[in-house]
Amino acid sequence: MSNVIKKGLLGIVVDETEISKVMPEINSLTYRGYSAQDLCAACKFEEVAYLILNKDLPNSIQLKKFEKEERDNRGLTKNLYEIIKHMPKKSHPMDVARTAVSVMGLEDKETSNSSPEANLRKAIRIFSKTPTALAAFYRIRKGQKLIKPNKNLSFSENFFYMCFGKVPQKEIVKAFDVSLILYAEHSFNVSTFTARTITSSLSDIHGAITGAIASLKGPLHGGANEEVMHMMKKIKKPENALKWIKNALSKKQVVMGFGHRVYKSGDSRVPTMREYFAKVAKIKKNKNYEKIYDIIEKTMIKEKNIYPNIDFPTGPTYHLMGFDTDFFTPIFVTSRIIGWSAHIMEQHAANKLIRPLAKYKGNKYRQVIQLNQR
Ligand SMILES: CC(C)(COP(=O)(O)OP(=O)(O)OC[C@H]1O[C@@H](n2cnc3c(N)ncnc32)[C@H](O)[C@@H]1OP(=O)(O)O)[C@@H](O)C(=O)NCCC(=O)NCCS
Repeated sequence: MSNVIKKGLLGIVVDETEISKVMPEINSLTYRGYSAQDLCAACKFEEVAYLILNKDLPNSIQLKKFEKEERDNRGLTKNLYEIIKHMPKKSHPMDVARTAVSVMGLEDKETSNSSPEANLRKAIRIFSKTPTALAAFYRIRKGQKLIKPNKNLSFSENFFYMCFGKVPQKEIVKAFDVSLILYAEHSFNVSTFTARTITSSLSDIHGAITGAIASLKGPLHGGANEEVMHMMKKIKKPENALKWIKNALSKKQVVMGFGHRVYKSGDSRVPTMREYFAKVAKIKKNKNYEKIYDIIEKTMIKEKNIYPNIDFPTGPTYHLMGFDTDFFTPIFVTSRIIGWSAHIMEQHAANKLIRPLAKYKGNKYRQVIQLNQR
């Protein structure tokens, strides 16, 4: 057995997957063989969600059935609404999402059934209900009246509706849909690996997704899109951007929304999201953050040869759409539930308990001394 330590599992291949392929060498990402960019251009989010879960793009009958199932399951129990109402208003919405999925597990009649069929049904239920739970908290903490889900609206339209009481113009909805497509799946990232690790002990899907949400919250993973916005708000104006970034680099600060464990010369999702960020900025008649974006990006590439990741354009895009900053990572959750679920099902289908080793460097063997003699 090798004693070589690979901290952070850097470069270690731990399993096989059929779900997505990240190809840093050609700057590409595919879901079930289709490029994410092509999917953004040709599909709505629900089609991509179906593809990731079911291995193939749906025909129109399959899509209708899938959409009906998603829309029919959006409602929460009275109990879950009550729990959300009683959560501290200052809670981070990621913690709300984590707790909400955990409660869904208590309430789901199939929690202990991890058959492929039951897991698919439960995945769709978690996918349908999590945005409702988040939107409920969004409004409750502002003292606004709850808005129940609307079955006549798509997944993205309904999220806007439940948060704001209205659906924005279709270009904004499309930009949101694109962000969800790009966030839906990304192979063995931290949260997905967390979900697979939990699953490997044959635990249930609600538990695995609860753990994955906790993992996504961290600023080195999904939490980066919120940090990007905090940074942009601190910079405030394009005139301040160059000085700010040079100062940050001179202090060896980690600049959020840059760098990636796998992509070392650019995140393949960024160009598409950058394009939709520009569209939203144009509609909102606010180019401030785009200008800051360009200066930071140019300087990071020039000075450090480090490129933006997906969280750099999504942060300001969600801000311009009107979402509170602490809702950016929860939006990521609503989409990544799809990727996690596919991985959980794949793990179940060919399971091996995930249990790595550690090289011990603690105390040598010691005798226990009785309490009264210590
Ligand atoms: C994503 C991330 C954790 C990848 O980490 P990693 O693969 O372990 O790479 P490292 O952190 O070892 O980075 C390698 C070098 O680039 C530097 N670097 C990487 N990302 C950086 C960033 N965002 N800002 C400044 N320097 C960065 C590191 O300081 C390190 O420099 P060194 O070799 O002089 O010590 C890292 O790039 C990061 O912290 N980014 C910011 C958070 C973020 O945007 N996360 C979302 C990812 S999708």
